[in-house]
Amino acid sequence: MIKILITGSNGQVGAELIRIIKSSIDAEIMCTDITQKTKETEGMEFEYLDVKSKELTEKIFEKFHPDHVYHLASILSASGEKDPYLAYTVNLTGTVNILNACVKYNVEKLFVPSTIGVYGPEAPKEDAPVRHSSIPTTMYGITKAAGEMLFQYYYEKYNLDVRSLRYPGLISYRVPPTAGTTDYAVDMIRHAAKGSSYTCYLGEDTPLPMMYMQDAMESTIKFMHSDPDKLSVRTAYNVMSYTFTPKQLYETILKFKPGFRVDYKPDFRQQIAESWPHSLDISQSRHDWGFNIRYDLEKTVEDMFSHL
Ligand code: SER
Repeated sequence: MIKILITGSNGQVGAELIRIIKSSIDAEIMCTDITQKTKETEGMEFEYLDVKSKELTEKIFEKFHPDHVYHLASILSASGEKDPYLAYTVNLTGTVNILNACVKYNVEKLFVPSTIGVYGPEAPKEDAPVRHSSIPTTMYGITKAAGEMLFQYYYEKYNLDVRSLRYPGLISYRVPPTAGTTDYAVDMIRHAAKGSSYTCYLGEDTPLPMMYMQDAMESTIKFMHSDPDKLSVRTAYNVMSYTFTPKQLYETILKFKPGFRVDYKPDFRQQIAESWPHSLDISQSRHDWGFNIRYDLEKTVEDMFSHL
């Protein structure tokens, strides 16, 4: 049985990852977060962990000796603009602490999500390539772009098998996301499910790449099990399922909830969204480790409603 350590286990991705690991891998799981144990982590080992602390991080590794680590603790784009220094310390100091602990305690594989936020406004808007030289304009993007460089560095210098996927906006029903720019999509669907109207903080014609959580988690597990010799990218691979604007999402929701109403009041997140690509080039993910997806937008919305 392998031992898997998860940081940020209470977050939007953590709650889902725990489930898919439990259902597909024979593993002992250690969940960690800076917030208290939740019902998602019931029956599992749980420790408080602030990844900004090198001492605390090493203490957990010393105690648990994980084989695989999923480092999900992160400050997302919108929260990062409210407290850039916190984003810097959690996303960079925290990630370096995890990378160092992985080397010190001989971790076999490390996964860290990256993001569409690593792209800046001058990157191609359509099919943004894996390798790019654009400069991100959010603290979140800056820290994640630097993180990707560190993954490559630790892979080459210490032979650490660190793997990363650039997630687009993730749509899921378990833990409502609140800290990102793409999260309006989940929020809009949740309001429709409750029968209330929704005020969207992005303009109606703002396209962003997105993906259903099921596909994101299945892809992550597949990617983590893929042959390391076939992986040609050691910064981060692109993944996404579809592009939509708030208006296109609204129109899809109307097929299920005909009376639903949305109005649009763009705030500071509009500028963040406009700095990101509309779609990513995913060809290398398909080629190197067989990336594929099951949910289109309509199936995503339908599945969300069936759970909310
Ligand atoms: N979902 C993230 C955000 O909006 C992007 O990766 O911050």
